[in-house]
Amino acid sequence: MKILLLGSGGRESALAWKMKQSPLTNELFIAPGNGGTGQYGTNVAIKPTDFEAIDSFVTENGIDMIVVGNEDPLVAGIYDYFESKPVLVVGPSKQGAALEGSKDFAKDFMTRHGIPTARYQSFTADTIEQGYKFLESLKAPYVLKADGLAAGKGVLIIDSLEEAKQSLKEMLDGMFGNASATVVIEEFLSGIECSVFVLTDGNGGYRVLPVAKDYKRIGEGDTGLNTGGMGAVSPVPFANGEFMDKVTKRIIEPTIKGLIADNITYRGFIFLGLINVEGEPMVIEYNVRMGDPETEVVMLRIASDLVELMQAAAKGDLGNLELKQDPRTAVTVMMVSGGYPGSYPKGKIITGLENVGDTILFHAGTTLNAEGDVITSGGRVIAASSYGQNIPEALGHSFDAVSKVDFDGKYFRRDIGKDLVNYKS
Ligand code: AMP
Ligand code: GLY
Repeated sequence: MKILLLGSGGRESALAWKMKQSPLTNELFIAPGNGGTGQYGTNVAIKPTDFEAIDSFVTENGIDMIVVGNEDPLVAGIYDYFESKPVLVVGPSKQGAALEGSKDFAKDFMTRHGIPTARYQSFTADTIEQGYKFLESLKAPYVLKADGLAAGKGVLIIDSLEEAKQSLKEMLDGMFGNASATVVIEEFLSGIECSVFVLTDGNGGYRVLPVAKDYKRIGEGDTGLNTGGMGAVSPVPFANGEFMDKVTKRIIEPTIKGLIADNITYRGFIFLGLINVEGEPMVIEYNVRMGDPETEVVMLRIASDLVELMQAAAKGDLGNLELKQDPRTAVTVMMVSGGYPGSYPKGKIITGLENVGDTILFHAGTTLNAEGDVITSGGRVIAASSYGQNIPEALGHSFDAVSKVDFDGKYFRRDIGKDLVNYKS
């Protein structure tokens, strides 16, 4: 098969690494890719949301399957654009992508299908007074979410009622542009989070991928600003048989059935952002793609042929295909540019990439300069992913690699997975 993968982050590096191992992959193109994806295929300078350019490339190169890494093309309707064309697309229709593109839609979907999630109401500028009243009916902290895509920044968690009211007004006044013209206010849930990924064929068939946990804050001990993700671990000790049985019965199956009942075409990955509230799983959010950096550990733990699975899902029938999991632990540690998630310099030369042993270096914000050096081009630069028999062992391997790779301003968290080592449910 000839495959076109859309995206340019660590997630796409991990997907490309895994896809390249499949005997079904004859040729792999990554658009636009990054400074490391050339190891797995051919980078193509096309924007993932430029459907016409993608269309021409697909036709000229006889592409059989498009794998969509990031949410933007999905929310913009890439599935629908190619639906009548002779190429498979792994991902939901535009309507399905609204599970990520609109938090109000997602909450309404969960409520209609009896899927456990925080109590909520949505407000616009016209209903701001009701919004204030709803805030008064809740206990602190207050959770305010921009309805639309806001590059992962659209959620505010605020301790004081007065500030929450002020923020509601600012959000409705355009703090996140049009994305916060509608604001979802919800009850705060307390617990530990994990990310569950499901590949569905849209006809009732689905497979659950290895569960992962990501580390979103910039600082050790989960402090400081939110980032795209500073590291990840899989498996997650508390996501055990009993917990996952509840997730399957209460969340995955109603989601799959709900999509069918609502006539929503969905042949791709569903990302369930879950929170474990005293042993009971609840949905914090849906995403319609794989997570980043979760993918940088999940791919290491899939022992089956992912290309075969994605192809079957995109065709609408997963049949009897198995998704086998590697029993080992995988950990990824993200090396980021100094200053991230605030402003940071770019163009720093990265050294030591050839000296990393068994760790896999998934490039994220990297590119090649005119001399062919790998240089930094983003906040999250490289994810160092390793296997181990347990979290400390895998983490040790990733730290060895992180100590060999260098660039000016390199920063990383040393406590990835440590909360899970001592976790008692
Ligand atoms: P979201 O973009 O919806 O995933 O929200 C970003 C982060 O905010 C989540 O990963 C949670 O850590 C936190 N969060 C969102 N909703 C809630 C909630 N209802 N209760 C507690 N924390 C939340
Ligand atoms: N790691 C969280 C996300 O990809 O949204």
